[in-house]
Amino acid sequence: MIQSTVDPALSLYQLLDPEVLADPYPLFKRLREADPVHWDSFLHAWVVTRYEDVINVMLKCSADRTPSPQQLEAMGMLAELQPISQVMVKQMLFMDAPDHTRLRALCATAFTPARVAALKGHIQEIADRLLDRVLDKGRMDVIADFANPLPAIVTAELFGVPVEDHQDLKDWSTDFAEMLGNFQHNPDRARRALRATENMIGYFQKAMRDQENNPRPGLVQSLMNAEVDGSRLTEEEIVANLIVTMVGGQETTTNLIGNGLVSLLKNPDQLELLKNDSSIVQSAIEELLRYESPSQHTARLAPEDMMLGGKKIQKRQAVIAVFAAANRDPERFPDPDKLDLRRTDNRHVAFAWGAHYCFGAPLARMEGQIAFETMLRRLPNMKLEPQELVWRENLGLRGLKSLFITFDRRN
Ligand code: HEM
Repeated sequence: MIQSTVDPALSLYQLLDPEVLADPYPLFKRLREADPVHWDSFLHAWVVTRYEDVINVMLKCSADRTPSPQQLEAMGMLAELQPISQVMVKQMLFMDAPDHTRLRALCATAFTPARVAALKGHIQEIADRLLDRVLDKGRMDVIADFANPLPAIVTAELFGVPVEDHQDLKDWSTDFAEMLGNFQHNPDRARRALRATENMIGYFQKAMRDQENNPRPGLVQSLMNAEVDGSRLTEEEIVANLIVTMVGGQETTTNLIGNGLVSLLKNPDQLELLKNDSSIVQSAIEELLRYESPSQHTARLAPEDMMLGGKKIQKRQAVIAVFAAANRDPERFPDPDKLDLRRTDNRHVAFAWGAHYCFGAPLARMEGQIAFETMLRRLPNMKLEPQELVWRENLGLRGLKSLFITFDRRN
């Protein structure tokens, strides 16, 4: 028997209320204090909010959680979701060892620190080019003008596909991310995700065919050639993992830029600090990731009956690890609701923990540093324009729909 109270005030479903979504941290605090390993009977899943317990979930639970096409059929789920599931079961994000170890090792040969370092100059150029377009206006929507296109263009460069395609990559990625970030089913959203999946499969299959004759440096080519201990990736595996890298790399980085900037603008002393001392940019990015985590939670399955925080979790029950709550756990981070860009000992879980620790973290950190340094240097006197901040309905990937700011116009 599951021992827990049914308390609607503690359900993660509260996030569907726009007011709670705008500031979910009081809900996370209530959960951490009242019932840190909470059976959410509305979601039919355990919700885990303390830092130490979240790490335990990441280390002990199974990532193999996405239903296979056959399971979907047996569950009587929409047949139309099956192509999405066919892709997801081949993505490293939804696998355990040894399958995960093999796939990640193969992909790692293609995504080396040298490749990330080589992108640095390009990222700076892209950031400058995007800001050049708005300097004369004295105002911009940071999301549409900068935080969306920057990671989309970087992704196209990283993959070695035409940069002109970046708007398609962005649109497909947003639609697919809706499947990753949400726990409530919405048929219209499912159809959009399906269209995006079909488009991405077709796009990457064609990119691979083109590159057989005209190789271009980038991840597509590297994954086609990757080999570890005589093992190579199949075409389906390449496509599935290009998709997860593309989606994982865009939505989250957009959110780091948007969430980070709004946090700085609401804490002008911290904005000044960073403006006057760029040597703290690295710790600043870590703090912005902790404070408003772009990826708020993930899901796992209990591999067997297990105890967590004094509760008995049964084999195959779903467990939601709330990174954003763990990152505000006062047991781990003193004064957790304070944005402190000089915070030391800041080992947050914004990039997760353990075997699935974010594959793109070095690239995300570099993009974040360049984005903030460039905005602070080139947009003097940035201010929030009066507006109602609207958060995207994606409950897992936290980000703003738009973010209007003003700054001193270029003379
Ligand atoms: C601020 C930016 C980013 C954040 C906050 C972030 C966060 C995360 C998190 C929390 C996970 C683990 C999810 C889970 O275990 O359920 C993850 C995994 C992953 N991320 Fe990121 N990510 C970011 C940027 C990127 C970038 C730039 C890329 C690639 C270009 C990327 C590619 C991936 C991939 C492929 C995985 C799956 C790794 C695995 O399953 O072994 N991410 N990311």
